[in-house]
Amino acid sequence: MTAGRTPTHQDVYGVAADGRFAAPGRVNLIGEHTDYNEGFVMPFALPHTTVATVSRRADRRLRLHSGDMTGGVVETDLGTLAPGSVTGWAAYPAAVAWALQSEGHELGGADIHFTSDVPVGAGLSSSAALEVVTALAFSDLNGLGLDADALARLSQRAENDFVGMPCGILDQMASAACASGHVLFLDTRDLSRRQVPFDMAAAGLRLLVVDTRVKHAHADGAYARRRAECEAGAAALGVPFLRDVPFDGLDAALARITDDAVRRRVRHIVTEDRRVERVIEHLDAGRHRAIGPLLTEGHASLRDDFEVSCPELDLVVAAANAAGALGARMTGGGFGGSAIVLVEADAAQAVETAVREAFAAAGHTAPRVFGAIPSAGARRLPL
Ligand code: GLA
Repeated sequence: MTAGRTPTHQDVYGVAADGRFAAPGRVNLIGEHTDYNEGFVMPFALPHTTVATVSRRADRRLRLHSGDMTGGVVETDLGTLAPGSVTGWAAYPAAVAWALQSEGHELGGADIHFTSDVPVGAGLSSSAALEVVTALAFSDLNGLGLDADALARLSQRAENDFVGMPCGILDQMASAACASGHVLFLDTRDLSRRQVPFDMAAAGLRLLVVDTRVKHAHADGAYARRRAECEAGAAALGVPFLRDVPFDGLDAALARITDDAVRRRVRHIVTEDRRVERVIEHLDAGRHRAIGPLLTEGHASLRDDFEVSCPELDLVVAAANAAGALGARMTGGGFGGSAIVLVEADAAQAVETAVREAFAAAGHTAPRVFGAIPSAGARRLPL
């Protein structure tokens, strides 16, 4: 192994690879916390990916190595995998192998080497990228022929039941099913979907991702509480999911909920589903700029009604809009992570500078800013 260079699969395991696969991180354009309410989401894939290089083994050992994590090879056995048996980053790929087997798929052992340029802890779905690339690798090497829906469902199940994070299916579907140059309009009720052309450069626009570099402790507990509050809201209204509350019946529905927090959670979900539909109407009509105010409105709803924002995310939105952005919002689960900012291409630099200056003035760590380009979903790569 050469010092200073990331080790390759061959360096780590001493054998040639049988396959190479990539799965991306994502940005959600709009439709936040709607997925576990069987509502609408609109993610697109980032060019940033997690890559898995894999070789088959004759036995049932599973060996996992990450070029990005300190520590050596994590080794386990496919026959003894159970929730809690693998922890840390390797729990995610181990969880996928466990989920595949618990659904009856026969797996052979494997040596897997991962590398990734998806920012970790930035709300850009590095975990889903790791899960989906593992599911695709196992599917391909074991001849399972799983489609995007199956890859995403298995990955979500791995995260819910093995890792213990009660996420919806947004991130995994984004990583498995997005298409280059498009945003994915997904109905999480039945996974029906449409690829919607989303070429911001051609419209003279840019979409900036601003990673606040903030990750709040206890975010997973707060996420689980929001989910429980949404379920309480649906139960109070006598519907299976908040997706089933019609927008034009919202006021009457809210009047029937006594708990103030639950009432506001319901208002966010029902108005957010409506915002997704309005964004789709604008994009279908070629009115890219018109989505800006809906992004900002969605942020206010996440900040005030759903209460999943944080001061740094609010500052990105306020500073960007004050500097002339068309709209901005937090993206992903919240409690830190990233915001997105829609800007005229020729204003992008000034808006980025304004956000950086606002962060410096507030004493926050400098954010990481990059332009988002809608990219391809999970795929096999040439060796
Ligand atoms: C996280 C979860 C997703 C989704 C978003 C919020 O990213 O993993 O399932 O609920 O938060 O939209």
